[in-house]
Amino acid sequence: MATLFKDVLMIDGSRTKAERVHILVSKGRIESILDVNQTPPTADKIVYGHGKMAVIPGFVNAHTHAAMTLLRGLGEEAPLMEWLQNKIWPVEDKLTPEYIYWGTLSAILEMLSTGTTCFADMYFEMDRVAEASLSAGIRGALCRGITAGEPGKLERSLQNNLELAENYHGREGLITVQLGPHAPYTVPIEFMKVLCESAKSHGLGVHFHFLETKNELDNLGMSPEKYLDESGLSDVPYLALAHAVWLDPNITLPENVTLVHNPSSNLKLGSGIMPLPKWLERDVPVALGTDGASSNNRLDMWEEMRTAALLNKGVDMNPVCVPAVDALRMATYEGARAFGFSRKGMIREGWVADLVLVNLDQPHYIGVNEENLAAYLVYAGSSADVTGTMINGRWAYRNGEYPALDREEIMSKARESREAITR
Ligand code: NI
Repeated sequence: MATLFKDVLMIDGSRTKAERVHILVSKGRIESILDVNQTPPTADKIVYGHGKMAVIPGFVNAHTHAAMTLLRGLGEEAPLMEWLQNKIWPVEDKLTPEYIYWGTLSAILEMLSTGTTCFADMYFEMDRVAEASLSAGIRGALCRGITAGEPGKLERSLQNNLELAENYHGREGLITVQLGPHAPYTVPIEFMKVLCESAKSHGLGVHFHFLETKNELDNLGMSPEKYLDESGLSDVPYLALAHAVWLDPNITLPENVTLVHNPSSNLKLGSGIMPLPKWLERDVPVALGTDGASSNNRLDMWEEMRTAALLNKGVDMNPVCVPAVDALRMATYEGARAFGFSRKGMIREGWVADLVLVNLDQPHYIGVNEENLAAYLVYAGSSADVTGTMINGRWAYRNGEYPALDREEIMSKARESREAITR
């Protein structure tokens, strides 16, 4: 089935200005992009843009813990370690595979309605997260969060993560699997070495929380460069470092690194502010994530994009740092590339049709044009403007409806799960 977006404004993170075009999507791909003055091709379905709709790439939430939607609102306004130890970890102990399944699906409802087409998730019972993703038709970059505990727990968790890779990596083109050591303070470096060897021998990337707080930097026991090198992280196939707030932007990072900026979570937990402009100046790849719903508390990439674009302008007293189009690229292409998804995150012929339809026919878009669309989207736009989220050329969300999902059932099961874990 082919879908034609007729007369829409198109922008992605590789363009400084938008173009007014027709976009033909067929067999899950962007088949052709024609100038608006050319005759549009025929298609089974036509979305009439009338120049008042924008098409942008789907957002990639490059760091989250989706099922934490069930823990939203627990232990608000506490420092990271106090929050984890007293509020989060005791409740997480009560999570069952089924609760995680429904919590993930409720996160997917939020993500789809806000234009997210791919999420990088670190949690546990990840086969249930994989099943939730496949049933929703959303892309997932999945890893098992690995932490030390009773004897043998690290080894079992790694084994579990490898089984996840064996069963789900590449499934339906929707899933990639990474190894997910939680953080330097929850996984001893001796085990990191074992894990990184395993990542290399299986050709898997690693998704890791790194230097989220100053305390973590102070207790690392060595320099961050040395840590990345000694642990073996510097030569795994690819490496996503979530947060990296306290990483010195003057150091040389290994080539395999993408930093994942989580501005809202870092602000809410009082962790600090990543020196984003310095990384961008050096062309270090930076993606964007929300982190879990209990430390954000939204799973809304529009919010992260806007916050990322604004935050360092104020801190550095520099209105030209972090341009809108850079924020858009971080929220889309950089996340897809970081987690092993190719030909996704830009609007190009032959690339995968993971797209978001944005309604520009609203008061806050008066004055929008090809030149300023990126800035309108990032500074004036919000997820309320999303009217459709397409993955692989199919609508996963359209005008408030989820064609593949039973919203009422998911809401009711997620509510029951929440009640059970907080009882
Ligand atoms: Ni996290």
